[in-house]
Amino acid sequence: MALLIASGCATQPPPPVDSAIIFAGELSGAAPDQLQRGYSFMVIECADCHRAVHPNARAMSKWDEILPRMLRKATLDELAERDIRAYIRAVQNAQPNDSAPRSTY
Ligand code: HEC
Repeated sequence: MALLIASGCATQPPPPVDSAIIFAGELSGAAPDQLQRGYSFMVIECADCHRAVHPNARAMSKWDEILPRMLRKATLDELAERDIRAYIRAVQNAQPNDSAPRSTY
């Protein structure tokens, strides 16, 4: 499948909301329940047609291009979009793409 090949190295599923993701979300004003909703959308609605894509598989600028198209496909509204964006941002901040050692707070 082209999509699986295109996803290349980032075949990990989106991570469940943990304390590091909640912490990162709070720094940008996202409540834990919002992050949880975003995660649920990503692994349920967004995994209807293809495997759920890890937030780190695309830079935020790419997500900005991809999300409007995929939200239409998934028939999700702008409230869902806000939750998904908050989740993607929090994961990217909590789990930076580089291999720097993870702080355990
Ligand atoms: C109705 C089926 C369907 C649903 C639902 C769906 N997708 Fe997709 N998605 C596709 C198809 C088909 C492609 C490949 C073609 C394309 O990029 O439009 C794709 C491609 C992608 C890509 C790769 C695109 C790129 O340019 O890198 C990402 C990331 C993605 N989807 C994320 C999501 C997210 C997040 C959601 C939930 C909001 C979602 N998808 C819901 C069908 C779907």
